Amino acid sequence: MKIFVTDPDGIEHELEALEGWRVMEIIKDYGLPLKAECGGACCCATCHVYVSEEWIGKLFEMREDEEDMLDEAMEVRDNSRLSCQILMSEALDGLKVTIAPGTEI
Ligand code: FES
Repeated sequence: MKIFVTDPDGIEHELEALEGWRVMEIIKDYGLPLKAECGGACCCATCHVYVSEEWIGKLFEMREDEEDMLDEAMEVRDNSRLSCQILMSEALDGLKVTIAPGTEI
């Protein structure tokens, strides 16, 4: 499985993704600049990403705590999600996201 992640310089990276991993963990494991300060506990918003249009409808609906936390993020858009709340599965093979501002290390 793969995901495609665009970094803050606009460069797209193809990352190997494992079932059950959080997208945030995959991005960090690869060494891209994503702070993800709380380690996936949904209480920091520094793992904020923009999900590309064709994928946004394929994700699980946001839970209330993700929505609340996103309110704290910078430059939130309709396709904003917290990458620690996206669990990798076969259905998301090929997922495309862009690292949002305010999440740098
Ligand atoms: S890592 Fe903190 S909310 Fe995702």
